[in-house]
Amino acid sequence: MCGIVGYIGQNDTNEVLLNGLEKLEYRGYDSAGIATLNDDGLNLFKVKGRIAVLREKVDKNVKATMGIGHTRWATHGEPSEDNAHPHQSASGRFTLVHNGVIENYYELRDEYLNDVALVSETDTEIVVQLMEILFNKYNDVAEAFRQTVALLKGSYAIALIDAENQETIYVAKNKSPLLVGLGDGFNLVASDAMATLRETDRYLEINDKEIVIVNRDFVEIQKLDGAAVEREPFTAEIDATDTEKGTYDHFMLKEIDEQPFVIRKIIQEYQDENDNIKLDPAVRQAMMRSDRIYIIAAGTSYNAGLVGKQFIEKIADIPVEVHIASEFSYNMPLLSKKPLFIFISQSGETADSRSVLVRIKDLGHPALTITNVPGSTLSREADYTLRLHAGPEIAVASTKAYTAQIAVLFILAVDIAQAKKLNLDFDPLQELGIVSSVMESLTDQKEEYEKIAKEFFTDTRNAFFIGRGVDYFVVQEAALKLKEISYIQAEGFAGGELKHGTIALIEEGTPVIAISTQENVNYSIRGNVQEVAARGAKTCILSIKGLEQDSDTVVLPHVHELLTPLISVVPMQLLAYYAALHRDCDVDKPRNLAKSVTVE
Ligand code: F6R
Repeated sequence: MCGIVGYIGQNDTNEVLLNGLEKLEYRGYDSAGIATLNDDGLNLFKVKGRIAVLREKVDKNVKATMGIGHTRWATHGEPSEDNAHPHQSASGRFTLVHNGVIENYYELRDEYLNDVALVSETDTEIVVQLMEILFNKYNDVAEAFRQTVALLKGSYAIALIDAENQETIYVAKNKSPLLVGLGDGFNLVASDAMATLRETDRYLEINDKEIVIVNRDFVEIQKLDGAAVEREPFTAEIDATDTEKGTYDHFMLKEIDEQPFVIRKIIQEYQDENDNIKLDPAVRQAMMRSDRIYIIAAGTSYNAGLVGKQFIEKIADIPVEVHIASEFSYNMPLLSKKPLFIFISQSGETADSRSVLVRIKDLGHPALTITNVPGSTLSREADYTLRLHAGPEIAVASTKAYTAQIAVLFILAVDIAQAKKLNLDFDPLQELGIVSSVMESLTDQKEEYEKIAKEFFTDTRNAFFIGRGVDYFVVQEAALKLKEISYIQAEGFAGGELKHGTIALIEEGTPVIAISTQENVNYSIRGNVQEVAARGAKTCILSIKGLEQDSDTVVLPHVHELLTPLISVVPMQLLAYYAALHRDCDVDKPRNLAKSVTVE
């Protein structure tokens, strides 16, 4: 988490840094700061709070043409002005921003910094103080920077400036994301291309354990031993307008509304000129070679993986296990003889997933990443990538990435089934097309969902979502959406499991939302609704056309039974959105969270 940005050029650095940090706020937003350099020296502004608070504090009269900035998601030390970045060395000569976690910071402190009075509780301050100690030893800034970086263990994207040099930003990276943006008479550093799209669309990828010397007119990539590295820039494909809210009050609502178009885009991207599925043949072969698929993911992407397991097992006839990334490394199951790992990640940067990827690559197993961000770490380090084509997802709560992940997993499963000549009794792309139209009709009925959200969630402390079969996977996502943005304690349960414990929590007025889209469990889930209603719960059933009963609160239009998660989740997203809105929560930036979780 945390976002960093750096600029060296001719323009007003304050604006470039503040704009960049606003775009990176999805990575963390509990404190922020910028440091700029001009002929009068260093100008440092730090706040506890968001970029809007920082903007107020920055003195617009202080002009500079180079500087660095940071937006923080606290790991070491509470959110406070002292713990906010940039951090300075004892003499004030060096100033640094950092994203990641320095794992050996106690060791470094005890070995090198006994005589230094630390002003923050952060692991980051250790790095900048160490830099000064090593500069005093080597009397050469570049050499001291290399030596400092060589001592660091853990994850880091670092940008450092030297108060005696307005011409250089020193940059280093390991595990945390970092790009260098290239311009005419200026260069940039950012955690994500989205931060600097106003300035450039040309970027240099930086690999782990590389150092970069960024000057106004040139950029030099080096290995840790100082050897120069040549690399071609790439053009970022993001459209700057995709990162704006437009007429919407919140990115989350905009992204919910974009889902029908994302599904259409996916159909278009994965369709050949004969309207058949088009997939990288190398991915197909890897799937066909494997005797068991291991899906690794976190949060919403994990919930999408649960649906994907159904597709791959039912359509493509390959056994699948779905694992929470942060558990897998420490609790590795017995692997099959020919495993294929599928990493599902919107950002492609989730540290928990990446540590599994590193581990399984060490074991020599193949990996496919399904991601929204093609140049991301998980994409670069896996053998194969499938793209989500969802466009930038800015709201912290994931919506369109979830449905895009499910759609791509469906296409993948169908492609394998076709390659295996298995009998399919439906036209997959046509069925996805129907889903897209149905999604559009659902997003047109916002008032209805706003009414339900008000009725069920305005005053409650808790809420339960229940489902069976594939609906059970969707209710887990529904509960995650509601809790993360409205702070209502919400849980998704398998309907049949309630009576084995959870039903004890049901009281007079407890909201219970049930989804019923599967014929084989329609009656049993309705039985579970009766059981909780008999104990005082306030109930709501969302069913699908063909399975409905008169008392159902919402009847969703019919889609293919396998694809119902793509539509039943849309009302759930809208319910969470309106619940958060009416409880005055910060919908796009819920407390304690960050969009891209780059620490384990
Ligand atoms: C919830 C949410 C998170 C992410 C999780 C994994 O709305 O967005 O649960 O799904 O942090 O992130 P990615 O998909 O980027 O690996």
